[in-house]
Amino acid sequence: MKTHAPLPVGVPSAEAADLSLTIGRLTLKNPVGTASGTYGKGIEFLPYYDTSRLGCVVVKTITLQPRPGNPPPRLVETAGGLLNSIGLPNPGIEAYIEHELPKLRTLGAPLVINIAGHDAAEFAVLAARLERESGIDALELNMSCPNVAGGLDFSASPAAARDVVRRVRDVTARPLIAKLSPNVTDIRPIAVAAQEAGADAVSAINTFVGMAIDWRTRAPLLGRGLGGLSGPAIKPLALRIVWQLSKVVTIPIVGIGGVATADDAMEFLVAGASAVQVGTANYINPRAAIEVLDGLPERFAALGARCLKDVVGTLKMPV
Ligand SMILES: Cc1cc2nc3c(=O)[nH]c(=O)nc-3n(C[C@H](O)[C@H](O)[C@H](O)COP(=O)(O)O)c2cc1C
Repeated sequence: MKTHAPLPVGVPSAEAADLSLTIGRLTLKNPVGTASGTYGKGIEFLPYYDTSRLGCVVVKTITLQPRPGNPPPRLVETAGGLLNSIGLPNPGIEAYIEHELPKLRTLGAPLVINIAGHDAAEFAVLAARLERESGIDALELNMSCPNVAGGLDFSASPAAARDVVRRVRDVTARPLIAKLSPNVTDIRPIAVAAQEAGADAVSAINTFVGMAIDWRTRAPLLGRGLGGLSGPAIKPLALRIVWQLSKVVTIPIVGIGGVATADDAMEFLVAGASAVQVGTANYINPRAAIEVLDGLPERFAALGARCLKDVVGTLKMPV
């Protein structure tokens, strides 16, 4: 365990405000996690901070079969954002369980495994296979990947979202987080369907479908043409969506989209999120997630907040 510089007098330590929350049967000690696909294989971050202090670690999406991912280039920087078309490269569930899962357990933080299937039945096959493995604290269902054929389908309609969540719910009692796509006209009925089907939380949002173009060659900059936009550019959109969701679901909302600082995280909490995930910011600053966490007690104190409930969804929206 690393030691940390003492905080100035009057500023409470990380333990002062109760930052814990529950998602289904899982209690997280704080609301700061990492976003799927942006945290390498997890162990890369061990030199940078004590990863066990995080509320949770969410891993890169795992699929049933191995996937090579999309053709390069896969990443393009845009104004205030990152456009990616990674395409879910992964070794498939069996190799993952054998080689990656043991390493992830060394991180010490609650582990959230993110899964994606080709169809609703395959989501359930993945969840059922993971039932045989220990040290997994929750599942996040990637119903929203914009970078694979059909990847968006599961959160494009309430019926599809309901089907995926219900089938997974039938095979596991583990906490389920339904990760939603922002690439829809209205995300609210989809979140409600996920909740009704048994999701313990919704995470919002995955990336926005976008493009980058080289006009001279008249070609897109990404190998697959389209990609998913993330980073500071999407934070205002993500905040709006979290706020909208907070009006229609009763399960916790995990806010994702451009969280890079403790102030960003506070904005999501006030908007209605009970937790946040740090994504693209990990690429800019490998300590981003822990710095977000370390900044929360001071900000809770500034609001006179003693626990998450004192902050979550307290937005004063003009009428
Ligand atoms: C390079 C990259 C890879 C990603 N891979 C995944 C993935 O495998 N599964 C998933 O559910 N989300 C994936 N995401 C989406 C993030 O988890 C997150 O929802 C999104 O980037 C918005 O958060 P941010 O602005 O903090 O990055 C990826 C994002 C990036 C930038």
